[in-house]
Amino acid sequence: MPRNSPALFNLGATRLTRLFHDGRVAGVPGGFLFPAGSELPDGLDSALAGQAMFPVTSPTEMAGQPPENEVAEAAAAGDLTEAWALLADRLRVLPDYVSLFGEAYGIGPDEITFVHAANAIAAHEAAAFRSDDSPFDRYLSGDAAAMSTAAMRGMRLFYGGAGCAVCHAGPFQTDHDFHAIAMPQIGPGKGDGPSGRDDFGRERVTGLAEDRFKFRTPSLRNVALTARLRPCRQLHDAGGSGPASSRPGDGPRHL
Ligand code: HEC
Repeated sequence: MPRNSPALFNLGATRLTRLFHDGRVAGVPGGFLFPAGSELPDGLDSALAGQAMFPVTSPTEMAGQPPENEVAEAAAAGDLTEAWALLADRLRVLPDYVSLFGEAYGIGPDEITFVHAANAIAAHEAAAFRSDDSPFDRYLSGDAAAMSTAAMRGMRLFYGGAGCAVCHAGPFQTDHDFHAIAMPQIGPGKGDGPSGRDDFGRERVTGLAEDRFKFRTPSLRNVALTARLRPCRQLHDAGGSGPASSRPGDGPRHL
């Protein structure tokens, strides 16, 4: 993975519409934005379903490397439409999938496309990873005694003096925006920069130099469970936030 994997929690929430660290899949009024050059078929339910179209076409995720298999070859040749068609062919010959897709969508085997699979994956993610019954949620819905005293103190700091909520705003702790905070990446990067080990982040989507090294503010829901808290602590313990960021107030306030 070029960077650490984003968490799946609460991606069914309608306001979480920007996916991936660089936001390359996003919901926009009237439709969705997808990586340039990917001709996505119609019928996708959400940006989350759109995202589910891609892991199967990625050589580092599920497609494999050519000449390992025909899906890998189609993906490597840039023919994602063919890769999705080949995958749908595989689903059509598995009786269990035929009956499940039939039940869910009222379709016969010949009508199964990878869009049905992506919509099903997104529906599963939205239901299985929904996480909105924490003490914090109960506090937000009016139960003033739901959180411990220590957690209340932390919340006041987070949404107050520590300045975290400048970016990690609202109940999902994200402003849905992109910031350069000089957090070291976990993973080999995206092949950018002189070393080929950098990941230019948002610039890869917008093409704007000012967006270099900006990444989407992640939701911090369940961050203690995702094992991604550690690098932030290390950054904090190292005594700084790295090089100055591109916007005043961006880096220095981070952990
Ligand atoms: C200027 C905006 C900004 C501020 C202020 C900020 N953060 Fe962040 N935070 C980010 C961004 C952007 C990332 C993702 C960085 C990346 O992927 O390289 C992040 C990542 C994190 C992560 C890692 C989460 C994950 O899923 O990997 C944690 C934990 C975190 N921030 C906690 C905090 C805390 C606690 C504060 C307050 C002390 C804070 N942040 C202040 C923007 C900010």
